[in-house]
Amino acid sequence: MSNVKTKEVLNQTVADLSQFSAVIHQAHWYMRGTSFLALHPKMDEFMDEVNDYLDVVAERLITIGGSPFSTLKEFSEQTKIKDEIGSYDKTMTERLSIVLEGFHYLRNLCTEGIEVTEAEGDHVSQDIFIDMKGNIEKTIWMLHAELGTAPEL
Ligand SMILES: [Fe+2]
Repeated sequence: MSNVKTKEVLNQTVADLSQFSAVIHQAHWYMRGTSFLALHPKMDEFMDEVNDYLDVVAERLITIGGSPFSTLKEFSEQTKIKDEIGSYDKTMTERLSIVLEGFHYLRNLCTEGIEVTEAEGDHVSQDIFIDMKGNIEKTIWMLHAELGTAPEL
């Protein structure tokens, strides 16, 4: 059975997790406003989770015969998560909304990963996407709670 699409979605995830780690780091550095003292270290936790998944996904890709993107140039060319130059003029709500948007995108990418791995019969890769999706959905709930809104999954 072919695993071409599984390798593609795993590598897309590699590029997106790399980019998202930088986006969260920017939030960590540039945030200003209410709850800074709690949210600044929370971004460190998010980055740790994202970087852990990045390694798991890349190594799974290698295990099934693929070659993960591994340069900043490749990450930035392949990712679908946008970035922008850092600035201090965003409200805390705007900052968190940018992070939340990234998690929503990744959650949908996990859904695609679950479908593709099902079609190609790779349940080990699928398990990674399921685990990641569950954790991301919990984070989405928490970020929405901080913003005073419902999760809207
Ligand atoms: Fe720091």
